[in-house]
Amino acid sequence: MSFRSGHHFLQLPGPSNVPERVLRAMDRAVIDHRGPEFSSLVPELLDGMRELCRASGPVVLFPSSGTGAWEAALTNTLNPGDALLCAETGQFSNQWAEMARKLGFSVELIPGDWRHGADPDAIGERLRADRGHAIKAVMVVHSETSTGVCSRLAAIRAAIDAAGHPALFLVDTVSSLATMDFRQDEWGVDVMVSGSQKGLMLPPGMGINVISERALTAHRSSRFPRSYFDWTPILELNGVGFYPYTSPTLLFFGLREALKMILREEGLANTLARHARLAEATRRAVAAWGLELVAQDPREYANSLTAVLVPAGIDADAIRATILERFDMSLGTCFGKFKGKVFRIGHLGSINDLMLAGTLAGVQMGLRLHEIGTVDGVNAALAYLSNRNEDAPKTAAGRVPAGVA
Ligand SMILES: Cc1ncc(COP(=O)(O)O)c(C=O)c1O
Repeated sequence: MSFRSGHHFLQLPGPSNVPERVLRAMDRAVIDHRGPEFSSLVPELLDGMRELCRASGPVVLFPSSGTGAWEAALTNTLNPGDALLCAETGQFSNQWAEMARKLGFSVELIPGDWRHGADPDAIGERLRADRGHAIKAVMVVHSETSTGVCSRLAAIRAAIDAAGHPALFLVDTVSSLATMDFRQDEWGVDVMVSGSQKGLMLPPGMGINVISERALTAHRSSRFPRSYFDWTPILELNGVGFYPYTSPTLLFFGLREALKMILREEGLANTLARHARLAEATRRAVAAWGLELVAQDPREYANSLTAVLVPAGIDADAIRATILERFDMSLGTCFGKFKGKVFRIGHLGSINDLMLAGTLAGVQMGLRLHEIGTVDGVNAALAYLSNRNEDAPKTAAGRVPAGVA
């Protein structure tokens, strides 16, 4: 590959950019994973994760990617052959459903068009029809990373409750964690599944489960075969600050730094507001380019990424390849029915106004090279970002800093 000056723009919807501070926090000698430094780090991280997820239950951090945490959610709470209901929202909902089938569960997919989130009414209706409560869990992807569509978890919880159904509520927040509002306790999420490499601003390599009291009860009676991903030995040893295997200790130091940035310095509300603002700016650029979002319902716009449809006859992957080649920026490809028709812009994790401006400028130049989107979308985004009245940043304590209004 020829020499590239400056830094690569990693604008995938994850893995996302890892801030220098987090890299530095991990750039240290490996410590004893059974020593006192590690055992005091573990409870601090578990508490921080609870705060981030607005949860009161146990947190399990696995040395895995999000896919491992998907498997752990299923195998720790269910029994062989159980019936599961999964809302099709895109590639990731379908992959999770496929994994559940491979594990021997009986999975019913509520079909979706990949342009809408999980439909609370359809879920409620299906659960009401399940009078014998054969369905043991409902699986929903919060931010469907393949489409930039978000599912309305509070409404889905309300639909499950209105149906009077006891199914567990399993939710994938792989791309919504620390980018969009998520409330484990309030929304009655039983197992949250996530990963390190997106909103948490860490390298790939950590899978996450956050567990409700109900899920813990289900776990105790679950007879599904499991070993490495079994919550029980992990939760037992976590009680004294350890794990039953060699933990990715350096990643844990990175997590400590990332949680400090999100929870103590920027403040979670501001982190979420920043994502909302950058996502809105991106959508304004897309609208000005005359292109269409994959997401069709404004209530379901994901703030972690934007998926953009290209005009018929144009190959979205060719645009991505041009942008990589000419401007050294990686954008997300799309899968399944949107392969070649959609590109995805990641704007999650460690990103600010000027990084987004550069990202959108790269997209715009790539579009021009393919003779589409010739109107200035970047300017529409900049006008929004520089509007003094738009979502002024607040301090971590929630106050508007002096001079910003
Ligand atoms: C929504 C969602 N779920 C699950 C996964 C799978 O996670 P991983 O690639 O970390 O195994 C991804 C990956 O991008 C994702 O975006």
